[in-house]
Amino acid sequence: MATSTQGVSRNGFWEALDERLGLSGLAYPVPAHANRLPYLLGGITLFGFIILIVTGLLLAQFYHPHPADAHDSVIYIITQAPFGDFIRSIHFWAANLVVITALLHLVRIFVTGSFKRPREFNWLVGLGLLGITFLFVFTGTVLKWDQEGVEALGHNKEIGELLGNFGTWFTGEFTRSVPLLTRLYFGHISVLPITLILLMVVHFYLINRLGISPQATPDAISGPTKGQGASRFTAHLRRLAGYGLLLWGLIGLLALLIPAPLGQPGVAGAEVTKPPWMFLPIYIFENWLGIKGILVGGGFLFILLALIPFIDRSPWLSPRKRRWIMIAGAILLVALIVFGMAAWLTVPAAHLMEP
Ligand code: HEM
Repeated sequence: MATSTQGVSRNGFWEALDERLGLSGLAYPVPAHANRLPYLLGGITLFGFIILIVTGLLLAQFYHPHPADAHDSVIYIITQAPFGDFIRSIHFWAANLVVITALLHLVRIFVTGSFKRPREFNWLVGLGLLGITFLFVFTGTVLKWDQEGVEALGHNKEIGELLGNFGTWFTGEFTRSVPLLTRLYFGHISVLPITLILLMVVHFYLINRLGISPQATPDAISGPTKGQGASRFTAHLRRLAGYGLLLWGLIGLLALLIPAPLGQPGVAGAEVTKPPWMFLPIYIFENWLGIKGILVGGGFLFILLALIPFIDRSPWLSPRKRRWIMIAGAILLVALIVFGMAAWLTVPAAHLMEP
């Protein structure tokens, strides 16, 4: 029965809201397995991005994107801005956890064959999202303008030069009126967020249009599931919100316990630091092949990932029926972990970069 407060019934309120916003349309059927943690990792990543945008907006009130002031403004954020150190640490930990949840999401999709027909295009859109995520981390590292940031910018310039005419935007030569740091900041707070949001709209549209992939049981084959399932999308959203809040709690706890690091002001030209952990598997290629190793290693990895839906074309979803691709995936994963560990253990190559 409807509960009533001062003449407005609760059900009446929801009915009025539903009439205007069409909220009951969200209660469409979804398969029950969509509510299991492995199938919620993409949505959990979205929760991480939400907190990144909110904290990024707050940091932008105090950050100064000019080489002469950038490092000092980060110190200002840490020491003077209200809750500045905590907000910066939340941004730092959210960035790290978003990379982890996005990579786990990719692994889940690979293992359950969810990239198969008709979802190949969404796999490619997802790869675009992953690329943007890495570019966010890279440009964010430069913004700190400590030794790690200055070295990251040095790599940016060298790769830009290696790309010739295509890479001019990434070098200081593109324009003398705005420093490269300022232009990368523009990328971090404008070009990348806009591209991320556009790709997410396409990603979510396709998920909605095709439905979540069927559960990867031994005889399951790939296909659309739109309109099928014993659960409801509203139940899925409730479950997702629970895990999303857990992620936010974890980020808050890490931010309280381990503040985001900041090194000494950077000196251009030397290479004494290592990149953030997610770049380490590629960084080893730089030790072997010089700066072009980063392009070769990164490019090779992305092309390999992009080819997966066109290599594994059988309709089977179960990993047991896709032994070869599972073995190849496991080898690639182990190789990346070994490369990353090797890079972590090696001393940076004493390589002098152009200041
Ligand atoms: C980085 C940000 C990303 C976000 C926010 C995101 C978000 C989502 C969400 C919410 C879903 C619904 C199911 C789930 O959560 O598992 C999903 C499904 C999917 N995602 Fe992503 N995703 C991202 C990255 C990726 C990446 C890196 C790939 C692969 C290269 C990818 C490929 C797919 C595919 C193929 C589906 C359909 C899966 C199915 O139907 O089972 N996504 N994504």
